[in-house]
Amino acid sequence: MSLDSLGCSYANVQAATDNFSFDNFIGEGGYGIVYRGKLNDGQFVAVKVQKETKAQSCAEFLAEVYPLSFARHTNIVTLLGYCCKGNLRILIYEYISNKSLEWHLFDNGAKVLDWNQRYSIAIGAAKGLQFLHEECRGSPIIHCNIRPSNILLTNDFVPMLGDFGLAKFGTSRFDKQRKLLGNLGYVAPECRENGGVGVRCVKADVYAFGILLMQLISGRKALDSSTPDNNITHWALSFIERLALHELVDSRVEDAYCKYELYSMARAAYLCVQTQPALRPTITEVLSILEGTNDHLRHVKSNLYPIIISSEACSLN
Ligand SMILES: Nc1ncnc2c1ncn2[C@@H]1O[C@H](COP(=O)(O)OP(=O)(O)OP(=O)(O)O)[C@@H](O)[C@H]1O
Ligand SMILES: [Mg+2]
Repeated sequence: MSLDSLGCSYANVQAATDNFSFDNFIGEGGYGIVYRGKLNDGQFVAVKVQKETKAQSCAEFLAEVYPLSFARHTNIVTLLGYCCKGNLRILIYEYISNKSLEWHLFDNGAKVLDWNQRYSIAIGAAKGLQFLHEECRGSPIIHCNIRPSNILLTNDFVPMLGDFGLAKFGTSRFDKQRKLLGNLGYVAPECRENGGVGVRCVKADVYAFGILLMQLISGRKALDSSTPDNNITHWALSFIERLALHELVDSRVEDAYCKYELYSMARAAYLCVQTQPALRPTITEVLSILEGTNDHLRHVKSNLYPIIISSEACSLN
């Protein structure tokens, strides 16, 4: 692939989105506005139009996004192309059809994610992040914005990480404010001074991944003003430290969960949100914990002692 092959003409993007019509509007985040589009060959795409551009030439923009196009993995949303037109900066991604994890956890009143779906989303998302951090050409790619809205789901509920590597593009005061409010729950302690904007460190991604695990288990928002203990980390750690793990589980899941998988997810979450980055595991170590192949990880400091759970406990009946 060359820089040229990634380029898309503005006319093509206009045609694909029906001139950015309201009918094709999907949503708006920190970086910009997202539209659904259909290319000439019939492929559906998500077109992300940057809201406000810093003084950056098209060449500089390209130099920053080009490495992201090499990230190709089952659990990563592929960046298909880009387009520059005047001050507009546009990214074109493959379209993922089954909404975001955010929607399934918090907005879908009709159907609750079951335990198997939650556990396999945790594993798939960890594999995507492992690829970005350790395996991808040009790695590490720091995601910088791990949270449920940036985990898109296929119709088979395969999780795909989107919006990796874009944090540095949110530059205006408005974006900083928005990120501070919207993402604060995911920002690692060492990065909070500037609201986490532009943070580039793999262990900050691991911290955010820990929050994500807590959300998968509990179905709670990272910061929830409607509950007395509104910070998910404080709330969850109080139960994890007492090994009262059943208290963490989303009440909508009822008893239909696997205790061993719950233990693995809670243990991984506990380690991921350690205040000191050096005490957090790498994402590969997180994956081993989640998959239950982590007995060699004794060097990872943990107050969470193993508990004996029989493998039969994993049967959900
Ligand atoms: N590749 C994609 N396929 C389908 N829907 C997408 C895709 N990328 C983003 N979306 C959807 O578009 C909407 C807006 O996404 P956007 O990334 O702009 O906001 P966000 O995820 O809420 O915030 P952030 O800026 O922190 O990523 C969300 O509902 C998201 O699920
Ligand atoms: Mg997003």
